[in-house]
Amino acid sequence: MSRRKPPHSDAEAPASPIRKAALCLVGATVLVVVLMNALPPHDETPFQWAWLHGALAASMAWATTMPRWWVPIMLLFAPAVLLALTLQVPPLVWLAAGLLPWLVFRGALRDRVPLFLSDQPAISRLLEMITDEHPVSVVDLGCGTGGLLLALREARPIARLRGVENAPLTWLIARIRLAKSAVDVVYGSIWDEPLGGYDVVYAYLSPAAMPRLWEKARREMRAGSLLVSNSFEVPGVTPQRVLELDGTGMATALYVWEMGGPPGPGTQVN
Ligand SMILES: C[S@@+](CC[C@H](N)C(=O)[O-])C[C@H]1O[C@@H](n2cnc3c(N)ncnc32)[C@H](O)[C@@H]1O
Repeated sequence: MSRRKPPHSDAEAPASPIRKAALCLVGATVLVVVLMNALPPHDETPFQWAWLHGALAASMAWATTMPRWWVPIMLLFAPAVLLALTLQVPPLVWLAAGLLPWLVFRGALRDRVPLFLSDQPAISRLLEMITDEHPVSVVDLGCGTGGLLLALREARPIARLRGVENAPLTWLIARIRLAKSAVDVVYGSIWDEPLGGYDVVYAYLSPAAMPRLWEKARREMRAGSLLVSNSFEVPGVTPQRVLELDGTGMATALYVWEMGGPPGPGTQVN
């Protein structure tokens, strides 16, 4: 297993892009307010000020390490808010529009991990690694709406299964779907989940999350347990196995690392 120093440890989460975006918006707002007060009065329209705000916020986003797709969002933010205000939409609609993404896509906003679900080829490949002869313990980090756990429960009745999810609505759906299935579905962050007790840690996250996940897995997972990542590799760390998927879905392969961490009770995986 070749290793490279990861860019940050578990304790040092990368600054959230949402926080950076908020700083750009606040910075642009401060500058616009200063300019409004400093310049001699003209007959600028609110939309002209909004576009100036957009240009400033977009320049700040451009000048920082934010992904480039944030630049047009920053540019359009203030004009869009102004336009929305002129439409006189009921406040509840704005509340719902603001809350819904958080309820479903909290992981995308905080950790740059969106919601997409493991498909059948990935589930079948994962099942190849989980025997039904012993009660193998498996955690799905970011279990989404619980489909993967449901499929595992049906195919491997004696496996000990747990899912961790931090998007409230998604977690609730998983919880309801798995209510009668003897699967732990906990509401919380994957970064707070201790990984030392599992034989298989499954993650379908995003490239952004992989260095941090690897650091955590390397510290906590016991010797011989498996870290399985759907589609996303750990930069600079070669997996022992790459299980190609059949290409019919979005996912491309399962990457499998056999951990060499501190010795623990023998693992019972295939
Ligand atoms: C790509 S989906 C995978 C869903 C499921 N594991 C599957 O394979 O079908 C990733 C999930 O991770 C969740 N997530 C992202 N960051 C998280 C975090 N810090 N803690 C818990 N869940 C998180 C997202 O809300 C999303 O539901």
